[in-house]
Amino acid sequence: MLNADIIKSYFSSDIASVFSPIEIFQSIDSTNSYLLNLPASEKQSGYVCLAEQQSAGRGRLERVWDSPNAENIYMSILWKVPIEKRAGLSLMIAMAIVELLQEIELKNIKVKWPNDVLVNGKKIAGILVEATGEYVVIGIGINVNMLSNENLNQAWTSIAYEKGTLLDRNKLLAQLLKHLCMGLSEFERIGLDKVFTLWPTVDALKDKTIVIQQGEQNHEGVALGINAAGALLLSKPSGIQPFYSGEVSKIHLPYPLG
Ligand code: BTN
Repeated sequence: MLNADIIKSYFSSDIASVFSPIEIFQSIDSTNSYLLNLPASEKQSGYVCLAEQQSAGRGRLERVWDSPNAENIYMSILWKVPIEKRAGLSLMIAMAIVELLQEIELKNIKVKWPNDVLVNGKKIAGILVEATGEYVVIGIGINVNMLSNENLNQAWTSIAYEKGTLLDRNKLLAQLLKHLCMGLSEFERIGLDKVFTLWPTVDALKDKTIVIQQGEQNHEGVALGINAAGALLLSKPSGIQPFYSGEVSKIHLPYPLG
């Protein structure tokens, strides 16, 4: 079971001072909603909320994030970031998850813009960043020990499935928080430099012909990578267009994402 003392026992002292408090719920509607709705007097940068299960876990674009009990990581972190410095933050979070998965020696890790983390072409983690005043809530869901789930209708995998063994979620959380701590501090100091270095090595869409859905509109083109603000660059017959939001709804063959 998740245990704050055990998570902290893996921390170095600098990380312990960054992520506090660490609050764990047996069950909650959504860890993101919990932090969004905290009274202003309780809000503080580095506040971590974890849950064994979520009854109303939320994904991007108003999707449901299915959250079975005691199998995965459902974590939200409150973080103070000036509004004008938030562009690309979720890409940086994706890079921290990539580094975690590299640390535990998973192979073929990719990110499908903006921030779906894939292993062997299947989704293993998702990120939902939401704003509340001067803070953002960084929501992270990672499939850890889930080996079956009939509620999911997209290709998914889990760390246990890929490694063939169950993992200690407390240790994994401490490792993840270490990568997040480094990533967030770098993001504050120098912005997206780390993302730019890593992105070409993990970009699931690079050079693929894709369709981006933005509201009612579909845009087809070839994905060229990201620009300085983390926007996806799409090469269309009319020129290169940056997309700051949207959903990649279709990826033409060759597929699956490799
Ligand atoms: C996505 O890929 O659509 C984003 C999924 C984000 C899920 C996490 S689980 C912890 C946090 N609480 C939520 O309700 N959502 C995020």
